[in-house]
Amino acid sequence: MTRLVGRVAAVTGSSRGIGHAIATAYLAEGARVLVNSRDAATAEATARELGEGAAGVGADVSTPEGALAVVEAARERFGRLDILVANAGINIVKNAVDYKPEEWRQVLATNLDGVFYCAQAAGRVLLEQGSGSVIAIASVTSFNAFPQRVAYATAKAGLVMMTKVLAAEWASGGVRVNAIAPGYVGTEMVRELVNKGRVDEAAVRRRTPMGRLADPAEIAKAAVFLGSDEASFITGETLVVDGGWLAYGWI
Ligand SMILES: NC(=O)c1ccc[n+]([C@@H]2O[C@H](COP(=O)([O-])OP(=O)(O)OC[C@H]3O[C@@H](n4cnc5c(N)ncnc54)[C@H](O)[C@@H]3O)[C@@H](O)[C@H]2O)c1
Repeated sequence: MTRLVGRVAAVTGSSRGIGHAIATAYLAEGARVLVNSRDAATAEATARELGEGAAGVGADVSTPEGALAVVEAARERFGRLDILVANAGINIVKNAVDYKPEEWRQVLATNLDGVFYCAQAAGRVLLEQGSGSVIAIASVTSFNAFPQRVAYATAKAGLVMMTKVLAAEWASGGVRVNAIAPGYVGTEMVRELVNKGRVDEAAVRRRTPMGRLADPAEIAKAAVFLGSDEASFITGETLVVDGGWLAYGWI
């Protein structure tokens, strides 16, 4: 477990779910990790729970100021930055005709604008350093249509192209940019949708060739790989981690 020794990573939205699993896996691989939540106390409590090598910063990464605060906090606490995981995301599940303008804006601001602001703030540091890796968390909704998720899916589709453009721009500067597209993962985001009746968990299991949801740790394994030197010639790629969801074409 030494694939990230000496590296410093910042993981947005990492007080729970996939971000928390990525922070945990990065620490286990020897990285130092800046965890983030909108709420400072939550971020700091998460860092304490994760233990040595973790620090926390409260910042709303849907704003340029919040994104900059995350990158600056990593440098202040650990002296450098090597990996940014733009993980923070939200979802509002409702019919497109019922979407309020502020709901559309809120989802796009977090899931698309915020990823760009974080990537940009990190990119400036990584390009000056001449090395580093940026990872965005996309989704199977980047590729396939899921009704009632118009803002979420539009943002997630945008991340696939953002990843390619930034990768093409930054490759010569030694910075790799990739994305991960998870299928359904057993996190609070999904549990909340199941509890509200917006997601039928049994149907998700039936629709997934592997017959289950992902464990957040399985997404974290992909983030370790993409952040490490094992992925040294991989850039502009969106790695699908979905138990076969997108491959499946039958009824
Ligand atoms: N769970 C899934 O099935 C699934 C599937 C595909 C993609 N994803 C994506 O993975 C990422 C993580 O999802 P999750 O399931 O762990 O969700 P989650 O809701 O459990 O965790 C997301 C975290 O991001 C934080 N966050 C939201 N907006 C923020 C902001 N503006 N600033 C800082 N933090 C913010 C939340 O507070 C939360 O801690 C999201 O981008 C999501 O879209 C999830």
